[in-house]
Amino acid sequence: MIKIKENNKDVDEFNLLYDSVGWGAYDNEVAQKALDNTFYSISVYDDDRIIGYGRLIGDTICFLYIQDIMVKPEYQGNKIGTLIMDKLLEKINQIKKENPNLRVYLGASKNKEKFYEKFGFVKRIDADLGYGMILKR
Ligand SMILES: CC(C)(COP(=O)(O)OP(=O)(O)OC[C@H]1O[C@@H](n2cnc3c(N)ncnc32)[C@H](O)[C@@H]1OP(=O)(O)O)[C@@H](O)C(=O)NCCC(=O)NCCS
Repeated sequence: MIKIKENNKDVDEFNLLYDSVGWGAYDNEVAQKALDNTFYSISVYDDDRIIGYGRLIGDTICFLYIQDIMVKPEYQGNKIGTLIMDKLLEKINQIKKENPNLRVYLGASKNKEKFYEKFGFVKRIDADLGYGMILKR
C-alpha cells in the first residue's frame, strides 16, 4: 500500500534513493545536516519501503526551491513523482496565502523539463528572465 510521510529525516532512506537514481550518496553527516535544514519534505513508501522523496528548501516565505525529486527506478512511470509534486504544491499554495508573491524555483536535470512543465513550471528564459546560473565546481 502506498503511504506518505511528511518531514521524514531518515538519512539512510534519503541516501538509498539518491543512490538508486544514480546521483551517488552523500556522507551521512552531510545528508543529515541537509535534511535537518529542510523546510518541508514528502517521503513515499510502498508498505514500509521508501520509493520516493521530494523536498522544499528556502526562507519559507519569499523564496522556495524544489529539490531532490526522486522516484526509485522500478516505480517510475506510475505517478509517484506526480504525487510528490502535488503534495509539495499543496504546501506551496498554503504559503501563498500568507505571501502571494512567493517565488518557487527548481533546477531541472537535463531532459526532465517536460515533467516539471506539467505542474506549471516554465524555463526562466521563456518567462523573459535570464538563465539560471550555478557556481562552477
Ligand atoms: C523525474 C521523476 C521524478 C518522474 O517521476 P515519475 O513517478 O516517474 O513520473 P510520473 O509517473 O508522475 O510522470 C508524470 C508525467 O511526467 C512525464 N515524465 C516523467 N518523467 C519524464 C521525463 N524524464 N521526461 C519527460 N516526461 C516525463 C510522464 O510521462 C507523465 O506524463 P503524463 O502525465 O502525460 O502521463 C523520476 O523519473 C525520477 O526520479 N527520475 C530520476 C531522478 C531525477 O532525475 N529527478 C528529477 C531531478 S530534477
